[in-house]
Amino acid sequence: MAQVCITGASRGIGLGFATAYLAQGDRVFGAVRNPDSRSVTELRARYPDSFTPVQMDVSSRLSVEQAAREIAQQTDSLELLINNAGISRPPDEQCIEDVSETDIRSVFEVNTLGPLRVTQQLFPLLRAGRNAKVVMISSNAGSIAGQGGGRGVPYCLSKAGLNMLTKLLWFHCSDEGVAIAALHPGWVATDMGGENGTLSVQQSVSSMMQLIARLHVNSPLYVDYSGKEMEW
Ligand SMILES: NC(=O)c1ccc[n+]([C@@H]2O[C@H](COP(=O)([O-])OP(=O)(O)OC[C@H]3O[C@@H](n4cnc5c(N)ncnc54)[C@H](OP(=O)(O)O)[C@@H]3O)[C@@H](O)[C@H]2O)c1
Repeated sequence: MAQVCITGASRGIGLGFATAYLAQGDRVFGAVRNPDSRSVTELRARYPDSFTPVQMDVSSRLSVEQAAREIAQQTDSLELLINNAGISRPPDEQCIEDVSETDIRSVFEVNTLGPLRVTQQLFPLLRAGRNAKVVMISSNAGSIAGQGGGRGVPYCLSKAGLNMLTKLLWFHCSDEGVAIAALHPGWVATDMGGENGTLSVQQSVSSMMQLIARLHVNSPLYVDYSGKEMEW
């Protein structure tokens, strides 16, 4: 049984990960903004012994510190951290001419600084875990080589930053025996991906779980849900 922490476990891909790890018998700390939301309450009722919701807003250092303390009161180690929480608003339509600095900052707070804060705070538990892993849920939107000139400027910048963070963390993590990867989940039908997403949450999550199970310190760092290496 692994001990897993998943951010943004209330909806979409994060909820899919939480449900699937619980179903395979792992213990899950679900980091969520609202522990009383319906999906979180349902998971707690279904898995009272193995699901622990923890209140966490990844955009707030204080909140992340408090959540990390709560988790540390309940376990001595973590085997897996999935930095999944993310936003694509304000409107995805923003292009380079009308993008506001305020919008860029707010998206960075969640998508780039959030994973840094959470990883920093949970690193002592991961260091104590057996073959521990840190997974960043990135995006093809963060690929500079693959950029096709689309919109969503704040989001693209934030995920490119997350990719660099992954690479930089790798130097630190691999010294400590902790594996790390940035995964592109595909285009997934969620609130963020919209109903036209080509993959269901279950399809994307089950593919990524196979990759995560095989992940080690020398694995490729930036791959999509099918295991195909992405261009940085
Ligand atoms: N869907 C896709 O096609 C797609 C493609 C590429 C990459 N991704 C990435 O996959 C990840 C999950 O996306 P999704 O499609 O599942 O999105 P989603 O359905 O919109 O869910 C986003 C999740 O992030 C949480 N979250 C947002 N801001 C937060 C904050 N400040 N603190 C803590 N949690 C916060 C939300 O919590 P609340 O319920 O409290 O709002 C929710 O659980 C994101 O990082 C996204 O960038 C998605």
